Amino acid sequence: MSRQKQPTRSQVKRKGARKIGLDEYRRRRRELMAMMEAGSIAIVAGATEKYRNADVTYPFRQDSDFHYLTGFDEPDAVFVLVPGRAHGESILFCRERDDEHERWHGDITGPERVMQLHGMDDAFPLSDIDDILPGLIEGRTRLYYAMGQDRDFDVQVIDWVKMIDSSNDPGSEPPGEFVQLEQYLHELRLFKSAAEIELMQLAADATARGHIRIMQCVEPGMLEYELEAELTHEFAMNGARSAAYPSIVGGGNNACVLHYIRNSDVLCDGDLVLVDAGGEYENYACDFTRTFPVNGRFAEPQARVYEIVLEAQAAAIDRIAPGNTWNEPHEAAMRVITRGLISLGILEGDPETLFTEAAYQPYCMHKTGHWLGLDVHDVGDYQVNGEWRVFEEGMVTTVEPGLYFPADLLQVPECYRGIGIRIEDDVLVTRAGNRVLTHAVPRTIQDIEALMARGEGS
Ligand code: GLY
Ligand code: MN
Ligand code: MN
Repeated sequence: MSRQKQPTRSQVKRKGARKIGLDEYRRRRRELMAMMEAGSIAIVAGATEKYRNADVTYPFRQDSDFHYLTGFDEPDAVFVLVPGRAHGESILFCRERDDEHERWHGDITGPERVMQLHGMDDAFPLSDIDDILPGLIEGRTRLYYAMGQDRDFDVQVIDWVKMIDSSNDPGSEPPGEFVQLEQYLHELRLFKSAAEIELMQLAADATARGHIRIMQCVEPGMLEYELEAELTHEFAMNGARSAAYPSIVGGGNNACVLHYIRNSDVLCDGDLVLVDAGGEYENYACDFTRTFPVNGRFAEPQARVYEIVLEAQAAAIDRIAPGNTWNEPHEAAMRVITRGLISLGILEGDPETLFTEAAYQPYCMHKTGHWLGLDVHDVGDYQVNGEWRVFEEGMVTTVEPGLYFPADLLQVPECYRGIGIRIEDDVLVTRAGNRVLTHAVPRTIQDIEALMARGEGS
């Protein structure tokens, strides 16, 4: 494959312009209000800037719940939803415009413009919140918010409620009930709209390009972080400005450390490298893993383990369809893994008994998947009333079985020690079954080796 041409300015602009429309944010707010009791109010805090060191901040990332309801990606904002309020139901408190600040740090939207740009009914400077919000809460019987998520905000909410309590107005009543907002909001977030799926597909496409690039440029002697740099470059060039989570690039035995992010070792001839890295596109995550040989060819023991994980993943993906339960893919994958461990001489006994006893667990310590969306480990319940949740159209889950044989695991035959393999794809539940969003990156040994053989620049 020839190296991708640099996109023009207008192409980049077009990529950056793909966003959720105002109508969809309005629809989300309407759906949430429909779930709330009459006479209630919801308060959602946006994220604040976090310091990395001294006066240097981390790149700002909006809180996912806040983004889902507002699409407003500036720090220091509070969103309030007041169903049935005559003067407007959607209210945003945000930073005011400030010439001096904007000269240094860039544009602030400000309350005047936020109403039109974000479809708010009302907007106020954040500095006025103590004067205005208690009045909005007053007389409402139920207050929905994410209790216990942010101590400072909990204290603020309590202070606003106390202001009503201590007011001299004889008719003033604070809400009698505090309700966790997440149980309603997260149920909405679990089901992805067509526009969300489009963004998730763009995240998947950017991620796929990154992984194809590194399969083509890896060679023995490179450092793990050099692969990370290649990935990040390709993500950003395709509109995924940031990785959705710290990239894991683990050569050899490092692949057996599930959350290895040091990425500072040399990639050695004869080793595999596990790369778990996904781009974030307009706040939507891709979560993706491939494991491939540093020198382009799987050694025989590596291939044996790889084929087991690949078969486990295929069995799991096969179980993703409306009507099947969330645990079915995991069980299908672990049955294949159990049989595979027997074939490698690592487990001994009856496959079904070993599966029931979870004898695979020392070698595969994590679940086969999780919901995916605005957060990499996305929101949404996995069980309802104590039963595994049933797949429905619009849900997105990862499918990521793995096998890990750390070098010091002496019960494993020597030829398998130091091998860690995970294969992870992102799968959308469709009406007819499923669609793999990340299908563009080769998965079979044959296809990976063929891609790697073609190499960079060919
Ligand atoms: N990248 C984190 C995970 O696969 O869950
Ligand atoms: Mn994952
Ligand atoms: Mn992952």
